[in-house]
Amino acid sequence: MAMAAAFYGIELTVYMVKISAEQKPYRKAVMETYGAKVYPSPSEATDAGRRILEENPDTYGSLGCAISEAIETAVKTDKCRYVLGSVLNHVLLHQSVIGLETKTAMDKFGIAPDVIIGCAGGGSNLGGLIAPFMGERIEGKNDIRFIAVEPASCPSFTRGRFAYDFGDTAKTTPLIKMKTLGNGFIPSSNHAGGLRYHGMNSVLSRLFEDGLLEARSETQNDVFEAAVKFSKIEGILPAPESSHAIKAAIDEALECKKTGEKKVILFGLTGTGYFDLSAYMQYNSGTLSDRVPTDDDLEKGFATIPDIPQNR
Ligand SMILES: Cc1ncc(COP(=O)(O)O)c(C=O)c1O
Repeated sequence: MAMAAAFYGIELTVYMVKISAEQKPYRKAVMETYGAKVYPSPSEATDAGRRILEENPDTYGSLGCAISEAIETAVKTDKCRYVLGSVLNHVLLHQSVIGLETKTAMDKFGIAPDVIIGCAGGGSNLGGLIAPFMGERIEGKNDIRFIAVEPASCPSFTRGRFAYDFGDTAKTTPLIKMKTLGNGFIPSSNHAGGLRYHGMNSVLSRLFEDGLLEARSETQNDVFEAAVKFSKIEGILPAPESSHAIKAAIDEALECKKTGEKKVILFGLTGTGYFDLSAYMQYNSGTLSDRVPTDDDLEKGFATIPDIPQNR
């Protein structure tokens, strides 16, 4: 999710969110090893990138910027195709394999989850994980609680508006009805780079509005505290993105401890943190910062949401 890619022939051009390229140089190196051309986004390689840099030379970038650059490259390059790895409903459909496998495994062992938790950037892992369980919930066959966890630095579910907005900064995509902070919202630098998207999948946004999906936001230091606890207990170093779900799972378990209830808590562990060691180093040395947008910061983003009748 921290990048957008355009394919032509066997060549792959990747627009990697600038802050992610800086914080995760080894991820960039892996892609380059496989032959990809990787541009930290916004870049000078596209009109969209140059325009964004002109307006905001010090920007760390965002997935919205990277999407604009990848779309422009695909449109201007013969036989070039653009792929998006999150946000759109078909990506959730792909990721529903995870939910189906999870449900099959749980059914096989006769376990039913009481709570399902996932981190939410554009919403694809969460949407895929909960899909079969949510289907049954809507049919009245279960009473599961579903929880989305997002970074406090980019709180599209918890502080965003439900409105028609563009999926990218250069306003090239069709309008999508979703929870959004505004296509012009640029989150502060945050190591959970994959969760730095101004919007949210439209189906999940609807589920949230209908009260079927809960959401909460967490600050980076709290998320890393949970990540370190988890790695010590489980021996798995989790990705910062995944650690948002871990934080909520730990909190739910602690609540059970308080109330004496017994619950099955299921969460998605979306990746390992071996490309995120600079963030772990900062956390371990106490220098990891938390930047939560003020209401004024959010207003600036909301001002970029299209002023169309449905949004008024
Ligand atoms: C490890 C990891 N987990 C989760 C995500 C979030 O993406 P999504 O909300 O689309 O599942 C990302 C995105 O890059 C990621 O890298």
